[in-house]
Amino acid sequence: MTVRRRFHALVKAFILGACIIPLIHLIARANGLGDLGANPIQEVLHTLGKTGLNLTLITLMITPLRKETNFYWLVSLRRMLGLSAFFYALLHALTYVALDQGFMWSSLYIDVTQRPYITLGALALLIMIPLAITSTKASQRRLGRIWKKLHRLIYLIASLGVLHFFLQAKIDVAEPIIYSIALLLLLGYRANTWLKRQQATRKQ
Ligand code: HEM
Repeated sequence: MTVRRRFHALVKAFILGACIIPLIHLIARANGLGDLGANPIQEVLHTLGKTGLNLTLITLMITPLRKETNFYWLVSLRRMLGLSAFFYALLHALTYVALDQGFMWSSLYIDVTQRPYITLGALALLIMIPLAITSTKASQRRLGRIWKKLHRLIYLIASLGVLHFFLQAKIDVAEPIIYSIALLLLLGYRANTWLKRQQATRKQ
């Protein structure tokens, strides 16, 4: 293994560790090493939701980072980050279904159909599923250009996630505003790249 490959493997292992830490921290807190406060279910729900959204936005940062630095190996981190985002979002939704609602399907149905922030969260999670399933290199090869188009849905997922965050916030919207700015910057970067490409094709 070359020094460069060893370095990339090390970075990958480090990022994987960083993705797992929030879950280990949460388990440790639940086991009495810390505490989960007055409303433990709410705390678990919020921590998992926030980590899922953080990882979704970090996944979106990979392409601009790669383009600005020309570090092509950064792309190899995208799958791990995206799958981790899905994993936390899934645990977040399961916490709501099992611990918060106790599998009360009728009230869950009302929530998904009548509470806009739950509808948006459920939609984001639903769209994450085909992306997680097709995240392998084999799927990427098999689907070709469709894969690229399909995986652009990450922008929609992030937008739905931020909107979900915004709508569930009661009084303090400072954090959702910061997340919205981060999302707008990422979307703006993408739009700018697209416009430049359109101008270049028109000139040809
Ligand atoms: C079926 C899917 C989902 C359900 C049922 C759901 C449900 C919830 C609930 C009940 C809350 C807490 C609301 C409150 O305290 O009043 C919440 C908060 C949150 N959710 Fe979701 N959610 C879903 C999907 C998602 C997804 C896909 C993401 C991110 C990608 C996400 C990110 C968040 C965030 C960031 C918060 C706020 C956490 C905080 O305030 O610290 N959720 N969600």
